[in-house]
Amino acid sequence: MSAELPRAAELTMQQAIPPWHFAMMNDQERNHAYRQAIETAVRPGDLVLDIGTGAGVTALLAARAGGQVFTCESNLHTAFLADRVISANGYGDRITLIPRSSTELVVGRDLPGKPDVVTAEIFDCGLIGESALHALEHAHRELISSTTRLVPSGGRLWAQLVESESLHGLNHVDVVEGFDLRPFNVASTRGYFPRRIDCHPHTVLAPAFRLFDFTFGEPPVPRTRQLTVPVTRDGIAHAAVMWFELDLGNGITVSNHGAGSCHWEQAVQTFPAPVTTKAGAAVRITARHDLCALTLDVERTRL
Ligand SMILES: C[S@@+](CC[C@H](N)C(=O)[O-])C[C@H]1O[C@@H](n2cnc3c(N)ncnc32)[C@H](O)[C@@H]1O
Repeated sequence: MSAELPRAAELTMQQAIPPWHFAMMNDQERNHAYRQAIETAVRPGDLVLDIGTGAGVTALLAARAGGQVFTCESNLHTAFLADRVISANGYGDRITLIPRSSTELVVGRDLPGKPDVVTAEIFDCGLIGESALHALEHAHRELISSTTRLVPSGGRLWAQLVESESLHGLNHVDVVEGFDLRPFNVASTRGYFPRRIDCHPHTVLAPAFRLFDFTFGEPPVPRTRQLTVPVTRDGIAHAAVMWFELDLGNGITVSNHGAGSCHWEQAVQTFPAPVTTKAGAAVRITARHDLCALTLDVERTRL
């Protein structure tokens, strides 16, 4: 067992490591999906690059499947604890932990060669907000070959328009106690943020639509899409709720759609100027993403 840490070091860990790690590590659906996928993808003797060690779950799964694993972690405090977890489980000789971002890795210096398999669980509620595409873009340029198997291999992002003053009020303000607070709206975020949609009263205004497909076997690039979405209810479009499906291979998927015990919340983007919708009419959605962020704009249009 590792030596106990001084109290000051424990406090530093508690401040430096985001608490969502615990819910994530205990998300059995996620863990089982990654276990199945990694056990299918990794063959004994494979060189595996695991991007984003966390506490070491995916690296340990890859090592147990027979891989020689190199895993990297950008948060130095997380890396310190992961090192202890890996040793405590007896995998110190099968896993090399590199306490750096994947975007700083160099083949030949940090890895003995291009990996047979890359595993990565660096996805937030809206799939791209933890800089997954940035890491993949770099991996395509510097780390992987055309034969490297990727877990996951891709994914999809879905969206749905909702009326919800409750969600809108998380990111915008109007008149409060007779005071006009709207100048403060300059500070509202234009991107999405995590929320459990079931905890907020909302009305669905249109069927869910597929926003972007991601194929991780190709280098990611910024994209813009315009979609015409038929509306099925009169209302006010305050926000878009988004969720992903990740393809882990062999039909194994994970998703943060809907309720349940999944640790990922849904991704919510509120509209600075909500749009009135009419059943039978349509709205135009302009969706843009670069390698780190995604935004949606909405306007009324004809069908
Ligand atoms: C969502 S957690 C997953 C941890 C572990 N792989 C698991 O599945 O339990 C992602 C971890 O990757 C780290 N991370 C994110 N992007 C990274 C990158 N490009 N290079 C290295 N670490 C990264 C984060 O600091 C975080 O600890």
